Amino acid sequence: MPIEKADKIWMNGDLVDWDDATIHVLTHTLHYGNGVFEGIRAYETDSGPAVFRLRPHIERFFRSAKILFIDIPWTVDQLVQAVKDTVRVNDLPSCYIRPLAYLGYGEMGLNPIPCDVDVSIATWPWGSYLGQDGIKNGVRMMISSWQRHDANAMPPAAKGCGHYINSQMAKVQAIKAGYDEAILLSPQGNVSECTGENLFIVSGGTIITPPTSAGALEGITQDAVHRIADDLGIPYVQGNLLRSDLYTADEAFLSGTAAEIVPIRSVDERDIGDPGPITRAVQDVFFEAVRGKRPEYAEWNEHVDA
Ligand SMILES: Cc1ncc(COP(=O)(O)O)c(C=O)c1O
Repeated sequence: MPIEKADKIWMNGDLVDWDDATIHVLTHTLHYGNGVFEGIRAYETDSGPAVFRLRPHIERFFRSAKILFIDIPWTVDQLVQAVKDTVRVNDLPSCYIRPLAYLGYGEMGLNPIPCDVDVSIATWPWGSYLGQDGIKNGVRMMISSWQRHDANAMPPAAKGCGHYINSQMAKVQAIKAGYDEAILLSPQGNVSECTGENLFIVSGGTIITPPTSAGALEGITQDAVHRIADDLGIPYVQGNLLRSDLYTADEAFLSGTAAEIVPIRSVDERDIGDPGPITRAVQDVFFEAVRGKRPEYAEWNEHVDA
């Protein structure tokens, strides 16, 4: 999806002009993929842009970095403030936000420890990743022949830059086969998640989502779905799913910061059908909450002028 330019990008503490936010071709992360990132969204509300669940995202950024031995030279509070500053200065009513910690220029070779750690935060206007039609009518999925990477090969709990080669292999396979998005199975054969989204089915009125032990990321939108389900009185469990559970689900949907909450119409040509009532109910509350229309979820909205 093309990037629409904004004015400024935060780089190592400075807000620099968009076109000046460049790095050297020998930047370590460019070669070996060791870096971590986050995907965050700010939504338009009546009191200006509000970043959805900003602190949990920044805390996950630090957990990802810890797993990969990347020592981010900032605190959580400093990066929370830096995101707010970046959103404010770019003056966008809503946007996608991409914090990135990468190993900079100056070292080569596979020992990352001596590398300087650089941090950038970019924002740009970005529509829903799987499209408005997907949000309304649902998407067609296939189960990829690529497996989610094993936790003892590359830990799925870290949003590591290089980890996303796995997602890209599955994504390209799905797109080339005419589907909207891919689902990956764990090395043990359980359903894991999508290329950049958590997955849920509804079966007998219960929402079921795969656990982290099946290779799923601990999604911040997934956690919001959990809270919404609890508030709506819909049973919600984490549990292992087989591919056949997807084929026979009453409803299915996915969640992620970029994609938001998207119904699943079919998996491997097995119809699930139009978005069902539980999917719709969760979607409705979610979109109202992120836009500041639900006071009971006000702590999710981090206003940038605050
Ligand atoms: C692999 C993967 N799974 C799930 C998610 C959804 O997580 P979140 O809701 O925190 O964006 C993401 C996005 O960060 C992801 O990259």
